[in-house]
Amino acid sequence: MRPVKRWKRAAALVCAALMLGACAQKEPDAEEKDENLIVVGFSEVGAESDWRVANTESMKNTFVEEKGYELMFHDAKQKQDSQIAAIRNYILQEVDYIVLAPVVEVGWDEVLMEAKDAGIPVIVVDRMVKVEDDSLYAAWVGADFRKEGDTAMQWLEEELKRQGRDKEPLYIVHVQGTEGASAQIGRTEGLEAGLSAHPNWKLAARLSGEFTQAKTYEVVLELLSQGTDVDVIYCENDNSAFGAIQALEEKGVSYGADGDVIIISFDATRAGLTACLEGKINLDVECSPLHGPRVEKIIRQLENGETPEKNQFVEEGYFTRENLTEEFITEREY
Ligand code: AHR
Repeated sequence: MRPVKRWKRAAALVCAALMLGACAQKEPDAEEKDENLIVVGFSEVGAESDWRVANTESMKNTFVEEKGYELMFHDAKQKQDSQIAAIRNYILQEVDYIVLAPVVEVGWDEVLMEAKDAGIPVIVVDRMVKVEDDSLYAAWVGADFRKEGDTAMQWLEEELKRQGRDKEPLYIVHVQGTEGASAQIGRTEGLEAGLSAHPNWKLAARLSGEFTQAKTYEVVLELLSQGTDVDVIYCENDNSAFGAIQALEEKGVSYGADGDVIIISFDATRAGLTACLEGKINLDVECSPLHGPRVEKIIRQLENGETPEKNQFVEEGYFTRENLTEEFITEREY
């Protein structure tokens, strides 16, 4: 996509070599060998969850030198300001592509305009950005978070019918992820729709778990200490579910497939599915973190002068103890 930029970089390296008196017969040094690599600057949300770690690995394993890439990696530690600074830095360094896994949806217009003005295509991955002008990014690939929430609600409705509890009042505790993140927004919308459709379902509490085990443990433990009625804990990711489970165990409350409190989770990481097979998590809705090859496909299309599909949703399923096996979990990539 940006041969001119790579040519400029190569020319600069050659000039530098000549000025340093490098002779023609000399083997190219590491920098000279790199001149044709596609430089990708990636700003990652952080390392808040097992899912995120798998996502980072997928990117790092995809954008390797052997495949023709140089990857610049930035961990934003869940801070949007840090991502904006990283993007500006990538622009200054004249990378070929910027890949952004945004912490939150809003607040990107200005910096993405700067990238556009610099002629650097931006690919958004995982969570979405909400911008006035969608030409500010080349393509997005990620999950349909709203659909994930709807899947969870549909399963809950059927599960309650199966248990003969569908007419009883149901107290749901909602543990939200990072406020303003697409994963939080979509999964919350799904729950809201479920609550509206079932007048006997009550929101017992809404807590902020920030997609982490530690924060969820803290807030659920506090809630249980207050003696709040709880029938369902709707956790917006696996690490949150682990935190809720930790708190329930500490309080001696029975939960899971053979217990009283129903645990709903998202991600379906290997650890999440293991907890599901053990009956600790009732439902784990899948959210794939293996975006490296998906982003690479978009870059390849751009390199070939093609227009990638603008918004690309990944197909996902869901898991309960009934449709899981140990072999399946062992073979899972994340
Ligand atoms: O945006 C995807 C979400 O972010 C995953 O569900 C969660 O585990 C991660 O931290």
